[in-house]
Amino acid sequence: MARIAPSLLAADFARLADEIAKVERGGAGLLHLDVMDGHFVPNLTMGPPLVKSVRNVTTSVLDVHLMITDPDTYAPVFIDAGADMVSVHYEAATHLDRTLHMIQDRGAKAGVVLNPATPVAVLEDILDVADYVLVMSVNPGFGGQKFIPNSLKKIRQLDALRRERGLGFKIEIDGGVGPDNVEAIVQAGCDWLVAGSSVFGSADAAHAVTAMQQLADGALLLRA
Ligand code: DX5
Ligand code: ZN
Repeated sequence: MARIAPSLLAADFARLADEIAKVERGGAGLLHLDVMDGHFVPNLTMGPPLVKSVRNVTTSVLDVHLMITDPDTYAPVFIDAGADMVSVHYEAATHLDRTLHMIQDRGAKAGVVLNPATPVAVLEDILDVADYVLVMSVNPGFGGQKFIPNSLKKIRQLDALRRERGLGFKIEIDGGVGPDNVEAIVQAGCDWLVAGSSVFGSADAAHAVTAMQQLADGALLLRA
């Protein structure tokens, strides 16, 4: 099943529990949390206390996307705060194999993220370790940007690789996802679709999730 993962970055932080309840009413069970350090990306967002507070109000799967220069130090802190999944950028992880194993040893799913300019080919020797690969379809740092179409090619490449090699990693996409491109993304082979402004920026966030989930379900039937 392809799943829509609302990105809390676009939610109202002062009413986070309500915002989460809304998207869960729309069927969401996977929530995406964007951690930015002002170094790896030119923005600052949320830290461990916020993840902990979110953990206290939901049983949904918490997908923490680390856009930080030092994932080795902070990944364990976010797992302790309640993250179920932690992804680190290929561009920020010097010893990626060690980092992914460390995340898994601490009980979370480990993902690797590719910036738009980083090719899929660099992951050839780590795809058997990663639980998921997150393809950035915008340059990380901000919500509300335009989808970069080349990311569809990267999804297709990853999907082909996992079939060829019989691997089980999931494929996630992040940035500029909305009702107009959900079907193409799912047909390309994507499993998890992060959506921020197209969910929380709409008049009815619950409906936005349901509608996109229906598009994803329909596209999945065509894919199979
Ligand atoms: C961007 C973040 C995204 C962001 C997506 O750096 O990683 O998760 O919330 O937002 P939209 O869906 O508005 O592009
Ligand atoms: Zn993200």
